[in-house]
Amino acid sequence: GDAERLTRFDACIDADGRIEPRDWMPEAYRKTLLRQISQHAHSEVVGMLPEGNWISRAPSLKRKAILLAKVQDEGGHGLYLYSAAETLGTSRDQMVEALHAGKAKYSSIFNYPTLTWADVGVIGWLVDGAAIMNQVPICRCSYGPYARAMIRICKEESFHQRQGFESLMTLMAGTPAQREMVQDAVNRWWWPVLAMFGPPDADSPNSAQGMRWGIKRISNDDLRQKFIDATVPQAKVLGVTLPDPDLKWNEARGHHDYGAIDWDDFWNVVSGNGPCNKERLATRVKAHEDGAWVREAALAHARKQQQRTLK
Ligand code: 3HC
Repeated sequence: GDAERLTRFDACIDADGRIEPRDWMPEAYRKTLLRQISQHAHSEVVGMLPEGNWISRAPSLKRKAILLAKVQDEGGHGLYLYSAAETLGTSRDQMVEALHAGKAKYSSIFNYPTLTWADVGVIGWLVDGAAIMNQVPICRCSYGPYARAMIRICKEESFHQRQGFESLMTLMAGTPAQREMVQDAVNRWWWPVLAMFGPPDADSPNSAQGMRWGIKRISNDDLRQKFIDATVPQAKVLGVTLPDPDLKWNEARGHHDYGAIDWDDFWNVVSGNGPCNKERLATRVKAHEDGAWVREAALAHARKQQQRTLK
């Protein structure tokens, strides 16, 4: 019965084992993974939009080629993650439906505008840098398909972060106007990137259970701190200042202290009222509708193929 299956499940989790799609799992485990993995997939797909706006405006063929590759990668990350979510008993259509109906979340960070070319470099450096921090521990997630999807995603994220940092180094070696453009982008993205790690642990309803089930390996606040500690020296190399007067090394803690994050702004964005939420969702809905003929043609072709083999 369920009692011994739960015992077996708990023993597997406690032994840091992997749960696979055919294994028995508590309904709540399935539900929270579906929630997180589908929202992660939505984040990747919506995440293509802010910097995708700059593909036709890239300053050189080299930058255009790199940006194209990165945006294409994000689309692929979305597909891996939708496939991982489907192993939990949902369909792509259901997940896309939830996103378009405003019922599913995606990462807050993609609801901010990309005002200049420097935003593309700052997104690579800070947003993908934060995504790496958040995704590396998920490679050790107890749910097999999710952990395995993360391995390749993390490899590609490193390229995303490095290309962003390199393009900022180029700009910082340029004119004063280019240097100002970078500093302006850092000023706009720094705080939303810190919030991207999720609410403080004390206000994080999913964390305790997620930690117990080996889904979340490091807490929101610990990952945020790790990101800040790793990024401060990089900002020095770049020659930009991080827009937080309270940011300073605390020898006693062995970490950087930092200022207060505006959680009202964060929850405002998460609940759909950020600077670009409506535009991002409308763009996704339009792309989905414009792409309906491709899906229909592919399905019709697949049916014909099937008929052929059945004869
Ligand atoms: N944006 C939007 N919603 C967020 C959020 C954010 N940055 N951070 C937290 N939330 C939501 C949670 O989804 C949850 O709402 P829900 O219960 O309706 O899903 C609520 O706020 C409370 O947060 P919790 O901390 O309790 O939720 P979690 O334990 O799930 O932790 C998380 C949040 C750290 C984002 C976790 O879900 C996670 O690690 N998700 C997978 C990784 C991910 O999505 N990373 C960001 C993707 S960006 C990206 O990778 C693209 C890159 O290539 C640029």
